[in-house]
Amino acid sequence: MTEDCDCQREQEIICVTVIDREGDVHCLEAPTDMSMNMMEVSKSHGLPVEGICGGMALCASCHMYVESDHILDEPSEDEENMLDQAFFVKPNSRLGCQIKITHEIDGLIVRLAPVAPEE
Ligand code: FES
Repeated sequence: MTEDCDCQREQEIICVTVIDREGDVHCLEAPTDMSMNMMEVSKSHGLPVEGICGGMALCASCHMYVESDHILDEPSEDEENMLDQAFFVKPNSRLGCQIKITHEIDGLIVRLAPVAPEE
């Protein structure tokens, strides 16, 4: 999937792929030197990731599934607690705001989780 990606990798830029809720594939350039996370990068490219809590692991509106085999940092207790309360959770669920943009995740593929039903 990432072979189709034509983003320009530079020293401080990695490529990540986000599959939206329609199944469309978006290859995104992500800077490693701006302390960004996957929620922020997705939002900055206009993808429908709300990020209501601003990246505090308090809302799960940035819920995504990791579909590549990258080894990510273990989720924090806050992230695990939030995912315990989220909808549509799978074993590969993560909060996008807790996935930091680093060179280690170059080529990461994530899929946006469905929007949680209104309470
Ligand atoms: S933005 Fe709220 S949990 Fe990620």
